[in-house]
Amino acid sequence: MDNSAQSPALINPFMPGAGLQPVELAGRNYELTLMRTLLGQISLGYQGVGMVFFGLRGVGKTVLLRRFAAMAEEAGMIVMQMEADGNAETESSVLREQVQRARKAVSSGETLAEAGRHIASVEVGLPLKLAVGFTADDTTESDPYSNLEKLAEALKGSNRGLFLFIDEFQQMNPDMMGRLITLQHTLGQEGLPFYIIAAGLPNLPGVLSESRSYAERLFRYRQLDNLSGEESRNVFQQTARQAGRSFTDEALDALQEYADGYPYAIQAFGSSAWDASSSTPMDRDAVANGLPEARELLDEGLYHSRWQRATPAGRRYMEALAAVGGDAASSAGVAAYLGKTSSQLSKTRAQLIEQGLIYMPLRGEVAFTVPGMGDYINRNHPPSSEPYDREHQ
Ligand SMILES: Nc1ncnc2c1ncn2[C@@H]1O[C@H](COP(=O)(O)OP(=O)(O)O)[C@@H](O)[C@H]1O
Ligand SMILES: [Mg+2]
Repeated sequence: MDNSAQSPALINPFMPGAGLQPVELAGRNYELTLMRTLLGQISLGYQGVGMVFFGLRGVGKTVLLRRFAAMAEEAGMIVMQMEADGNAETESSVLREQVQRARKAVSSGETLAEAGRHIASVEVGLPLKLAVGFTADDTTESDPYSNLEKLAEALKGSNRGLFLFIDEFQQMNPDMMGRLITLQHTLGQEGLPFYIIAAGLPNLPGVLSESRSYAERLFRYRQLDNLSGEESRNVFQQTARQAGRSFTDEALDALQEYADGYPYAIQAFGSSAWDASSSTPMDRDAVANGLPEARELLDEGLYHSRWQRATPAGRRYMEALAAVGGDAASSAGVAAYLGKTSSQLSKTRAQLIEQGLIYMPLRGEVAFTVPGMGDYINRNHPPSSEPYDREHQ
């Protein structure tokens, strides 16, 4: 097909934005295989293990988790999804609601029929078995943890699993986190098919181990990284091609260099190059002309809102971090820059970590959770007195 003959008024296929499913999901074959394997194991009646994915902001955790949830649903599994926000009340109401939904799915014949299409070995008489353990007046008020256990029991032997997908798991209030890890542990020991699949920032494995020391052995952990040069080029080219346009090799060289493998940036630079040109193939000029828009997409979508979330003391800390090391520095260096001792700053640092704005990649080292945050601060010098959470400047 000759794309150059098509109308240039095509819809921009790039998706810069948190959780926006990319047209081309690149570089995640290994992770997708892990999920497929788990689903296959459960479908055959084997036991699998839950999984934890961690990485920096914008690297593609949320889109992957959502893709996994869709795969699980497609495979006839019972799927619950939640995003932790650290608020015990909202988290437990979301969990209750999800458990309630799962209960309905488990006891509904319709879902079972649907599952039958995917799983060849669904036994006759399963609906009866699945209904065990529930009475009609079980309400959302009842304990979600014991309901989860009942659901997992009901699913035992059905070759279907009960999945809880948790995004931003590192933020979850400690009590719920601990209970869910314990549940994964005890149900797993009983051979019941309950699986937590979670995503979060790089500090997530540490937070989980702190919550329950055996969390280390409970999950399969996997770090999500930036994409390789080759994978990045593929995202640019395949995304454009699927929407009827393409990039020249020179344009791809430039795009690859600017985005540096960072998925959020790939979508932003691709999107702005697309907007800056109406011809195909899009050339190096399109990329260059799109730069201001790409910057704005990243600054507004990624950096500015993070800056606004910090307290004035937090902002001074972030400014110091950026000045000392760009995206990462020793916490002693940051303290020295601010004329304080490390321990004087420990509260501010702890709060920034809790807010998910920085993390500690190594002992004594601090880093931004979004790549390029340091550069943003150094470029813009946003005032530390700026009000919190203001939507727009
Ligand atoms: N594997 C990938 N290939 C191409 N683009 C991706 C990929 N993963 C994520 N993206 C894009 O990156 C951006 C951030 O994804 P998101 O899942 O919100 O990241 P995170 O949850 O890690 O902060 C989105 O615009 C998304 O479309
Ligand atoms: Mg996310």
